Amino acid sequence: MNATVNEIREALTEANNTAIGNGSVMPAAYYTSDEFADLEAEHIFRRDWVCLGRADEVKEPGDFYTTEVIGEQLLVTRAKDGAVRVLSNVCRHRGNIVASGKGKKSRFSCSYHAWTYDSTGQLIAAPLMDDVPGFNKSECKLPSFNVEIWEGFLFVNLDGKAEPIAPRMSELMPFIENYDIADRINGFTEQTTWQTNWKCLAENFMEGYHLDVTHPKTLKPLTPTGLCEYVPSDGNFNAYFSYYDPSYPERGPFPPNLTDKEKRCSLMFGLFPNLVVAAAPSILIYLCLSPNTTNSVNIRWGMSALPEIGDVTDEQREFMNQVNAEDKLKLETLQKGLQSKYFNPGPLSTPDLEGTIHDMYKYMATRLGSHVEFNQ
Ligand code: FES
Ligand SMILES: [Fe+2]
Repeated sequence: MNATVNEIREALTEANNTAIGNGSVMPAAYYTSDEFADLEAEHIFRRDWVCLGRADEVKEPGDFYTTEVIGEQLLVTRAKDGAVRVLSNVCRHRGNIVASGKGKKSRFSCSYHAWTYDSTGQLIAAPLMDDVPGFNKSECKLPSFNVEIWEGFLFVNLDGKAEPIAPRMSELMPFIENYDIADRINGFTEQTTWQTNWKCLAENFMEGYHLDVTHPKTLKPLTPTGLCEYVPSDGNFNAYFSYYDPSYPERGPFPPNLTDKEKRCSLMFGLFPNLVVAAAPSILIYLCLSPNTTNSVNIRWGMSALPEIGDVTDEQREFMNQVNAEDKLKLETLQKGLQSKYFNPGPLSTPDLEGTIHDMYKYMATRLGSHVEFNQ
């Protein structure tokens, strides 16, 4: 492990030992080091729950899509038994990718030699293999990963050893339960890539400091920086209330149990490591982040509507496209700035504005801090 990685790990441990409100920004290498990115892949993305999107993207038996997490090709299916599966999308013959894109299909035929699998990953056809001694189709399956659905979000755990999600989120639940997040109907999901480190995007989505300056015409009139309120975290999530400007019109319809306070704010929350969400009264916006290279992140993002509305309006989608474009611009120049050898990190702002970033550092510290001993 080189000196830089050790310095990053030490900085994480220091952040972990510092009170929220007194922290400073991590060294640039945290966002630019390839070696540190390898540690993240190995010790975070292979070991923790990674969100892929909303479970109702595969609503009916036969629905499927493909995606990838840290280079692992994944096939998400809903089989006849009603269960959602996340399968390795790598053929058991010579390792080609089996399925691509998304759609409706109950048989997946590898385009190399036509080995064919069903939605559970079972091999059901392998042409010209009958004369091969000892070959038995029934013993051939695509590996299947552990899956959990939490509040309608679909998570995968590659190493199969992560603790269940729901108990870990017990402290977040009181803040989100009135938004009826599990019932929201997915309107669309898009996959895109931005030229920034995945953590820059996770931090950006979860801090209110930039709202006025980066989004002067979109978010500032709606959720100004000065109305952000930090939600203390137990280390499993980060969150803040993004209150609406008093002059902004009501944003109904509302889920039935939403309080008057909740009707006037969006709850912004992140589940470490890779899911960030804006829960507004009638719309849910989510981004699932997956590191591509150190300097680029793959994003599956979408919006889900209240059941009584049923779909996302063109206006809502256009608004978020604009907000995303504004963030993308800043995050791609940020990534360029972080390449500098002369960047000397500054302090984080107050808990209401950047406490959520400190919470994410603390999570990262529990996995990768210098006080953590890696077990293989
Ligand atoms: S690699 Fe898939 S059928 Fe040969
Ligand atoms: Fe933003």
